[in-house]
Amino acid sequence: MLDDKKVLYSGMQATGNLTLGNYLGALKNWLTLKDEYECFWGVMDLHSLTVRQVPAEFRKRARNLLILYIAAGLDPKANCIYFQSHVSAHAELSWLLNCFTYMGELNRMTQFKDKAAKHADNINAGLFTYPVLMAADILLYQADYVPIGKDQKQHLEITRDIAERFNGLYGDVFTIPEPYIGKAGAKIMSLQDPSKKMSKSDENVNGSIYLMDDADTVVRKCKRAVTDSDSEIRYAEEKPGISNLLEIYSSCMNKTIEEAEKEFDGKGYGDFKLAVAEAVNSVLGPMQTEYERLQKEKDFIDGIIKENDEKAAYYANKTLRKVRKKLGLTEKPR
Ligand code: TYM
Repeated sequence: MLDDKKVLYSGMQATGNLTLGNYLGALKNWLTLKDEYECFWGVMDLHSLTVRQVPAEFRKRARNLLILYIAAGLDPKANCIYFQSHVSAHAELSWLLNCFTYMGELNRMTQFKDKAAKHADNINAGLFTYPVLMAADILLYQADYVPIGKDQKQHLEITRDIAERFNGLYGDVFTIPEPYIGKAGAKIMSLQDPSKKMSKSDENVNGSIYLMDDADTVVRKCKRAVTDSDSEIRYAEEKPGISNLLEIYSSCMNKTIEEAEKEFDGKGYGDFKLAVAEAVNSVLGPMQTEYERLQKEKDFIDGIIKENDEKAAYYANKTLRKVRKKLGLTEKPR
């Protein structure tokens, strides 16, 4: 694409309060990759509609997510930060790709099974075809890499399968994307139940650290984190609580797990938990300050949205035109 850089695509749903898991599993990696690649970061507001939203709150939340991307350090001039729903090519390609996706494949998606169990009263078709919209997001921009947390890996695999199937029928239309899963922080677990991933939708608010939690709340949640009856600070399968805290600490401090283990050798859980909270606050504090500042820059944010929507639409429509042509859809008379 531009400047012969490889293309990177990712995004987050504008649903609920973002957690430290979203930051360490995705956003943090985006920051390290943003200069090396041509990047597109979507606010995935269409995906959010698979669960019921309160319109006024939803509108605000989606805009706030875009602001958060910038507050975290993504550069809206160098990278394309935009709303998925502002580029209609996403919905259009999603339909076309639906016709190249099998029910059996979608039935195997673990996230669908989990979400269907959680929202038994609203198992809508959008929830089922969610991965196809995600495939459309990625394929529209001919992305080479997709930085995601581990929980999204299966969705990337189906994206690749759909793209390969389409290319097999119509020639090289889509770039086949690779997942990019960071070494650290790829799956941050709940502080209250370290067998479950830290999640925006967890009913137990003490299980998740939210990106907007203040410093005292972070200390309180870390102090309450579930550990074990042992007293050793070491990464091990039989110590999921401590391992998760080590993962959080080392990820926030850009250290390896071994370095963190050495640092806390001989120390107690109490001191360790406080150090984890401080490490988290050192990441969240500056981001929250910048987020508050940007909230007041309405014109600047509106300008970014307008500029980036257009840029995204330009690239997305280029791919969509190619797909339409390959499929034999009638061209519009000029
Ligand atoms: P979403 O909004 O659930 O999560 C956004 C990103 O955060 C990662 N993540 C985690 N990483 C580590 N530990 C955790 N506890 C944790 N929780 C969440 C997710 O893996 C993800 O990378 N379907 C996507 C949004 C999406 C998308 C896309 C992503 C839509 N279209 C195209 C990439 C490309 C989702 O629901 O992410």
